[in-house]
Amino acid sequence: MKTLHGHGSTFMFIFSLFFHPFLPLAIDTITPTQPLIVNQTLVSNGEAFELGFFNANNGSLYIGIWYKQIEPRTIVWVANRDNPITSSSGNLTIISNGNMVLVNQTGTVVWSTNQSTVLVANTVGQLLDNGNFVLRRENDENPENYIWQSFDYPTDTLLPEMKLGWERKSGITRILRSWKTNDNPATGDYSLMISVRQFPEILLMHNQTTTYRSGPWTGRRFSGVPVMKGMSIMQFDFPDNSDEIFYSFKMLNSSIYSRLVINSSGMEQRLVWAETTKTWSVYWSFPGDCDHFGECGPSGICGANTAPICSCPTGFRPKNKQGWDLRVGSEGCVRSSDLDCRSDGFQLLKNMKLPETSKAFVDQSINLRKCREICRRNCSCAAYANTKQTNLNEGGSGCVIWEGDLIDMRQYADSDDGGQDLYVRVAASDLDRSSKNWFHDQVGMVVGTSIGACVVLIVLMILVYLKMKKTISLKKVMDRKGPQGRIGDFLVNDGPISRRNNHGETDMDELELPLFDFTTLSIATNNFSDTNKLGQGGFGCVYKGTLANGEVVAIKRLSRVCEQGIEELKNEVRLIAKLQHRNLVRVLGCCIEVEEKLLIYEFMENKSLDMFLFEKDKSLELNWKKRVDVIRGIARGLLYLHQDSRFTIVHRDMKASNVLLDKELTPKISDFGIARIFGNDQTEAATNIVVGTYGYMSPEYMMNGYFSTKSDVFSFGVLILEIVSGKRNRGSSNTASQLNLLEQAWKLWNEVNTLELLDKSIGSKFSENEVLRCIQIGLLCVEEQPEDRPNMSKVMLLLSSETVRMPRPKHPGIFIRNRNLETVTPGKPDDSMSINEITITTLDGR
Ligand SMILES: *[C@@H]1O[C@H](CO)[C@@H](O)[C@H](O)[C@H]1NC(C)=O
Ligand SMILES: *[C@@H]1O[C@H](CO)[C@@H](O)[C@H](O)[C@H]1NC(C)=O
Ligand SMILES: *[C@@H]1O[C@H](CO)[C@@H](O)[C@H](O)[C@H]1NC(C)=O
Ligand SMILES: *[C@@H]1O[C@H](CO)[C@@H](O)[C@H](O)[C@H]1NC(C)=O
Ligand SMILES: *[C@@H]1O[C@H](CO)[C@@H](O)[C@H](O)[C@H]1NC(C)=O
Ligand SMILES: *[C@@H]1O[C@H](CO)[C@@H](O)[C@H](O)[C@H]1NC(C)=O
Ligand SMILES: *[C@@H]1O[C@H](CO)[C@@H](O)[C@H](O)[C@H]1NC(C)=O
Ligand SMILES: *[C@@H]1O[C@H](CO)[C@@H](O)[C@H](O)[C@H]1NC(C)=O
Ligand SMILES: *[C@@H]1O[C@H](CO)[C@@H](O)[C@H](O)[C@H]1NC(C)=O
Repeated sequence: MKTLHGHGSTFMFIFSLFFHPFLPLAIDTITPTQPLIVNQTLVSNGEAFELGFFNANNGSLYIGIWYKQIEPRTIVWVANRDNPITSSSGNLTIISNGNMVLVNQTGTVVWSTNQSTVLVANTVGQLLDNGNFVLRRENDENPENYIWQSFDYPTDTLLPEMKLGWERKSGITRILRSWKTNDNPATGDYSLMISVRQFPEILLMHNQTTTYRSGPWTGRRFSGVPVMKGMSIMQFDFPDNSDEIFYSFKMLNSSIYSRLVINSSGMEQRLVWAETTKTWSVYWSFPGDCDHFGECGPSGICGANTAPICSCPTGFRPKNKQGWDLRVGSEGCVRSSDLDCRSDGFQLLKNMKLPETSKAFVDQSINLRKCREICRRNCSCAAYANTKQTNLNEGGSGCVIWEGDLIDMRQYADSDDGGQDLYVRVAASDLDRSSKNWFHDQVGMVVGTSIGACVVLIVLMILVYLKMKKTISLKKVMDRKGPQGRIGDFLVNDGPISRRNNHGETDMDELELPLFDFTTLSIATNNFSDTNKLGQGGFGCVYKGTLANGEVVAIKRLSRVCEQGIEELKNEVRLIAKLQHRNLVRVLGCCIEVEEKLLIYEFMENKSLDMFLFEKDKSLELNWKKRVDVIRGIARGLLYLHQDSRFTIVHRDMKASNVLLDKELTPKISDFGIARIFGNDQTEAATNIVVGTYGYMSPEYMMNGYFSTKSDVFSFGVLILEIVSGKRNRGSSNTASQLNLLEQAWKLWNEVNTLELLDKSIGSKFSENEVLRCIQIGLLCVEEQPEDRPNMSKVMLLLSSETVRMPRPKHPGIFIRNRNLETVTPGKPDDSMSINEITITTLDGR
């Protein structure tokens, strides 16, 4: 037996204590004989939720549910939202037909569970610990046999285990509806529901108008809600079967509170209670910048990181050019050429939030190739895609086909932000104009699938290898310092390849890189345990290892998807082994066995530069002098690659995470996975596959695939500005208020506010003149025209002299993102030691 817990009634509280000292004070149930009156509450068994009367809307009285443990009171459900009690009292009670009713002072029913089928007397209303308020028979063998439950009648909040969606058989529809205002729980104008379509998605409606859509569910999350990927504290569910279809979520740790709300101003918010600050933190809210339904009109694509945000896919042009130029995108795009049905091709758009699905047809059983066939044959098919694209490395399944206009497309900046591959039908003539489209369809798809990254790597290695063979006589090693380590001591394989020369003078033909045996490396890294893991990159993981002689090394284990390329890898390794310079990371050996390919590097105590630069505490350790040393060190390393090594090597992926720091913070350039070697007379090359990292790639490389030592100089310029400012350069700028680092530096330079760029963590100990020189050199390096940029020996000169006159920098090359670029980032971005955070871009449009 339990008793009511009087909220304001001290008497009752003491009374119950006195008579039932061993029973819990709070009850969770109302019975026909025990109604709930004003100032009393029900508290769920685990004390998570509380139900009772509350005042809102200028003193009106409502029955609601809120969190027991959270202040200020957060109401998650309201019974009589549209029929408040205007007097000061009311009773929630169970009446003779078994229904639960809310009556006002004069006994008028203002709210009822209203189930015609109950007709039994012995029912109870119980508040469960998940926040569900249920009506059930008191002695039902199955206590989960609910006659009625509040979870079927949500208000504006979705709690864990609640379902947003519909039951196909019973027809129960569960929709969230906003409050009228923040203080008025009455049904507002906004609602959140699951669309009743073949390829369902969540829609946010204002009255009858869609204002935002989540994009269809594509296996793990909604195509337009990439942030779901980062929510490691909860699990999402989206079953779609003949009985029901719904969206729900579950907390992995049930003591963390989270809710999804459609608030009175029409925003869908995902909130998580932060115990430390005692506030609800907003994990996401929609619609965001580029999410307003149909922002860019029919066939238009919105890109939050592009300026202007609306663009047309290849084969389309703005319908109203004038409006478009004025940044009014709503009229959308029209085809540049008419389709002819038979000869049309498909343009691949990557990282897309799939278009609105009301006119989409779905067949979960067919694959992408079949899907393409069906689309090609049916002239009304405008686009197709996989229905499920679980993630980058797993490809997709199922087929969805769109007809008519493609509405509400959005493109994310890179594949990490989410989004799917979408194939849009375009006229053959438009495809022809962008002649690389055959390439898209073929290679683009390969790149998108698992082995893509490796194929590219291997292709590049072959190119490097062929180029080497062709243009360089492999007689002498350019650098005669010789290996300094004591590699020979722990050679395992004594075959001819692992011979080592002790004279310091080595011949290319003679010197071979030590081969390690897999077992040795496995022991060194504690069987590649997670505790030894230093980081993860696109092509594999990096581990810290301790060899039998005590030497600490870094071991990169290339991922298994690289099935081929043993010879190529060996060649690459041989090449890198030849490059010896204080400011280059040294490769100590390798291991190539049937299943495994590993590279052994010298171990860098201080990991990578980005971890110092962009982290608040660590950046304090980098005072001005150290920063200058780092800049000079990197410059020396690059100069060596470009000029002093007799080869001309273009690194192509210079960035903060590829600069490692040893114990003394000496910078060492790492990761030659995509480096290219030039012949003696060669100064520039072009590629169809742009590999690099946004923010560091020069415009001519990014847009046209041209690279040269000057594109490395550009990246180096970005690095200088990052080192000086302690800020990351974002790939592109979106709005005037959010200039990227280059634009910011340029602006401050012209306003003669240049010193404002300096990282505040540096403090006051620096030479103003030196800072200004560095910034100026940085700006010279990032000039738009490659021929304007200084070469590395000039840079070295400028860096080491205080007196050499410097030219005035010209406008930096700022990349405005091109809609038609495809981007793929193999692997996850790295949060500890980024060795391989590479972006591969396949160019088209030429
Ligand atoms: C509820 O509590 C408030 C404040 O404690 C009191 O003013 C009010 O009279 C109480 N109402 C009822 C119906 O007991
Ligand atoms: C709230 O109630 C008071 C007193 O009954 C009244 O004067 C006031 O206009 C009401 N405010 C609103 C917003 O309804
Ligand atoms: C509400 O319940 C209380 C206690 O059971 C009772 O005294 C009171 O008359 C009821 N009021 C109404 C309006 O039903
Ligand atoms: C109870 O509700 C009825 C119907 O809404 C209304 O006519 C009556 O005035 C209310 N009684 C009180 C005391 O508020
Ligand atoms: C109960 O349901 C009937 C029929 O569905 C409806 O007409 C009536 O207004 C409902 N009553 C309440 C109190 O919700
Ligand atoms: C939505 O409906 C409400 C109530 O019917 C109306 O007042 C409001 O103007 C409508 N808003 C829009 C944008 O249609
Ligand atoms: C769950 O979260 C609570 C509160 O944040 C924390 O104290 C507890 O350790 C977590 N439990 C688990 C199993 O992670
Ligand atoms: C609704 O949510 C948005 C986004 O989180 C927020 O900016 C706004 O203040 C909220 N509106 C209300 C009335 O709480
Ligand atoms: C083309 O597709 C539409 C819709 O899927 C369908 O109604 C039509 O029959 C199809 N036409 C052909 C030739 O398959």
